[in-house]
Amino acid sequence: MGKFKYTEENEKEFQRIAKKYPKIDAMMLPALWLVQEQEGWVSPDAMVFVADKLGKTPIQVYEFATFYTMFNLKPIGTYHIELCKTLSCMVMGAPELKKFIKDTLGIGPGETSADGKFHFSEVECQGACGGAPMIALNNHYHENMSIEKLEKIIKECK
Ligand code: FES
Repeated sequence: MGKFKYTEENEKEFQRIAKKYPKIDAMMLPALWLVQEQEGWVSPDAMVFVADKLGKTPIQVYEFATFYTMFNLKPIGTYHIELCKTLSCMVMGAPELKKFIKDTLGIGPGETSADGKFHFSEVECQGACGGAPMIALNNHYHENMSIEKLEKIIKECK
């Protein structure tokens, strides 16, 4: 067994979900999702962990994880910036924020900065349209985002 292990909280969550999905195959998705929530990516070590938990082979988990594009199979930056690209956010300035990210960090959607610190993703509506445009930084929502605010956030991260 490798080094990866769910946090106590995620282990509880896993057990809770496991009760809802009696079929072990249906657990693959939530099990990997919990890994990604915890680590930001799905490492080979974590795949072995999930395989072990679900009675699968690591290669079965690997094949599953590579099929779904939402799983990061490489470490992403320490700071994961997610920018909503759906209508309200788009109208309220998401394209300008995207350009600002490209100009300051040199990264477009799906890319990680050269220093490995920032990873940028575009995401669909996050349900915070009232506060458009929104970005999430490591799953923490920031609404009514402006270039000034984003600049400040990026500075603080550096
Ligand atoms: Fe961006 Fe809904 S459109 S949060």
